[in-house]
Amino acid sequence: MKNKIKDIDYALVEGVRPPIYKAMKYWGKKPHNIWREYIKNYTPKGGIFLDPFCGSATSIFESLKLGITSIGFDLNPISSFIIEAITSDFDKSKFENELNTIVEHVRQDDTYKKFFYTESRHSETISEVQNFKWENNKLYELGIISNDKDNIKEKKYTAAPNNNDNNLINNFEQIKIEYSHPNEAFPTSPSFSANFINCIGGNNFSNLWTKRNLFVISFIFNDILNIKDQNIKKQLLFGFIQMLHLTTKMSVPRRAEANRPFSTSWGRSAYICCGRQMEMNPLLTFISSCLGKQSVESSLNNAKDYFYKEKIKLSNVSISKKDKNKSSGFDVKYGSVDINTIDDYIKDKSIDFIMTDPPYGGLVQYLDLSYVWLSWLQLYDKKYTPNFDAEITIKKNVVDESLYKSRFTNGLKKLHKILKDDGKIVFTFHNKDIKIWNIFLNSIKEAGFKIEKVIHQQNKRSGESVVSNPYGTSGTDFYIRCIKHNNDYQASNNSEFEHIVLQTAINLIARRNEPTPYQILFNGILAEISGKGFDVNEFDKNIETILKNYVNKIFILSNNNFSTSGKFWWFVKPNEYIKYPDRTLSDRVEDTVLQFLRRRQSISLDDMLGEIFIKYPNGLTPDTKSINFYLQKYATKSAGKWLYNALLVENEISNHTKILADLSEIGKKNKLDIFIGKREQWEKINTTTLATYATHLELKFLNFTKEKLDRVHMIDMIWLNKKNIEVVFEVENSTNLISAISRGTNLDKAILKIMVIPNKRENELLRQKDRMFLEQFKINNWKYLLYSDVEKLKISKQKIYLFLKDISG
Ligand SMILES: C[S@@+](CC[C@H](N)C(=O)[O-])C[C@H]1O[C@@H](n2cnc3c(N)ncnc32)[C@H](O)[C@@H]1O
Repeated sequence: MKNKIKDIDYALVEGVRPPIYKAMKYWGKKPHNIWREYIKNYTPKGGIFLDPFCGSATSIFESLKLGITSIGFDLNPISSFIIEAITSDFDKSKFENELNTIVEHVRQDDTYKKFFYTESRHSETISEVQNFKWENNKLYELGIISNDKDNIKEKKYTAAPNNNDNNLINNFEQIKIEYSHPNEAFPTSPSFSANFINCIGGNNFSNLWTKRNLFVISFIFNDILNIKDQNIKKQLLFGFIQMLHLTTKMSVPRRAEANRPFSTSWGRSAYICCGRQMEMNPLLTFISSCLGKQSVESSLNNAKDYFYKEKIKLSNVSISKKDKNKSSGFDVKYGSVDINTIDDYIKDKSIDFIMTDPPYGGLVQYLDLSYVWLSWLQLYDKKYTPNFDAEITIKKNVVDESLYKSRFTNGLKKLHKILKDDGKIVFTFHNKDIKIWNIFLNSIKEAGFKIEKVIHQQNKRSGESVVSNPYGTSGTDFYIRCIKHNNDYQASNNSEFEHIVLQTAINLIARRNEPTPYQILFNGILAEISGKGFDVNEFDKNIETILKNYVNKIFILSNNNFSTSGKFWWFVKPNEYIKYPDRTLSDRVEDTVLQFLRRRQSISLDDMLGEIFIKYPNGLTPDTKSINFYLQKYATKSAGKWLYNALLVENEISNHTKILADLSEIGKKNKLDIFIGKREQWEKINTTTLATYATHLELKFLNFTKEKLDRVHMIDMIWLNKKNIEVVFEVENSTNLISAISRGTNLDKAILKIMVIPNKRENELLRQKDRMFLEQFKINNWKYLLYSDVEKLKISKQKIYLFLKDISG
């Protein structure tokens, strides 16, 4: 019998990318360690994992790390190229030798000598140029490599162009390019607008590069193609393609503030042509994409240690070699496969687990963008020619939404067919656009899958505040886990949908117990309703419209000045919706951070996030920025770790503990029984713990519901008279006064509740203006005591009632 898998039901913490992933540019790379956890958890021993949209093949390399047999397909032939390059045998010295031969060859060439050298600005010699910067077709700066005769400290420096540099530009057209290079019109696609084509210099792909750059690039390409050793050839081609995008006219110089005059990047996932351009020297760019940091060399060196074994068995499929029945004898099966034909390559019901990151509408035009590389690679091997016609995307006047939907749905149907009946599939999705989200949900359903769980996976590199779109946080991915499901979905109607949206919003705000930004609400609702199998397309109202109908009836809105994640939503009458009040989510999270620090003393941000993600899943997961804020409050950063500020914080805590000990003695003097809060019971005092001061360590005998009892157990102290609650205490040494009174609200209004504060906080309490706080204080019979009153009570015979104070004077 198969062992039951324990599901992953909460977000995981993203790790730092190892060098193996740093050489390759691709759009939408996924967090490697999180995917590894999923693949490990859901692929049984000896089973097969599949990623049909594997892109830069992260999932495949993680399977190789785990020793799990995998299949990695993508319509984009670049995936196959990356898999072949990264898994190839790497001989560092052979690689370096071949690279040096090419570099020397280029440097001997007269055209290179003429166009990529300038007079040194520090000696009577010539120097190699690393980059030329342009503005509106005029050269304005050169990045120059220093040479030995220059006698200066800097390895590189910038200078204005001299006459010779400017004159060379007029000679570009005389350059003769003898070697093969892309020489075709841009593909017909909105990615290449008329404006772009005009600005870049005309409708030919080769116009992406200046003539002198194209010359050097094709020279290097030709040299690589002449190498006999197939592995070295592929590895150098890998370095070659990484240089291609950086050396186009699309590269923009970084702003002066960045202080990086020698580097550039392909910043946006689009074909762009700006007034300011950076013409990078292809030879030097090639060298740095082959050697050094984030290079082919560092990536392949890392790959050697990364995989579970050295010799990887690859099985490449293609239209003429489908290998459908082959399900063993390889470590990785891969190829440029359209998902809509995937069942030609994989047997029915043979896959154990699928995890994949599908194309999100037309957000990124993968094939168009990759054509910068593929236009060259296809000259090396035809198998790298992309099949634009099968791409799942949305492109104006080429592929519309309905074609996207039918391609996507049919693709998913194929996945349903090849997945084992008890296999699971996890999709990741980035909800930029509600329309695409709806298509996605419907496709899942039509394909016969049923959503089992939706998890918000926060992206570490961004937080709530980077939200730019009303329907999505760029910081959150959804992980949607599905199982096979063959029954029809229940038809549902508008009022049912509206009811669920409203209830989910209410529950979410109530559980957080604090005004909640719209974005968090929206994500929570989306996750909830997606799992309920609603046919979202049937509903003409979207979530926001539904909720807006209840503004000023159920919800009130207030401005959010802290982030761009939308207005704060809260209740007009909180008591009606929050049945068992707890402290606010922010305060609970702060508590968790503090307790974790006290337990572990020294932690990394990742340790902390791991704890928080498990304890506060999905709609309760706080912004990672707030975690940083609490860490700063209680700890100091040192060598990448957070060290608990024990001296400072423990002093505060021991004040709190001492007051509780004093109060329990006063209670006992009054012949009352003492309960001390679950969290406080284990606080140390003298040589013992607070628990020894308590008569009761739990209050099950009160016969409360579990939720209510959970809240009551967190109250700092309760005095009881024969198992009846007589007085409730919250001691607020330094924590939030407003939040302090919420747990007491679970108890009868008539019960006396006392907030105990240091004398120095009295003014803060008396100046509270929060309307809700003042109301609750009054209605729930709250009074307050100062620490000095507790001191007096300890030695006095007078009753506590004589010392009580009220905020209304
Ligand atoms: C969001 S990306 C995946 C990125 C990947 N997770 C990574 O870490 O690099 C979606 C992928 O779907 C691929 N794709 C688009 N249409 C396809 C089709 N018909 N069949 C297979 N793959 C397709 C694209 O080439 C792209 O690589």
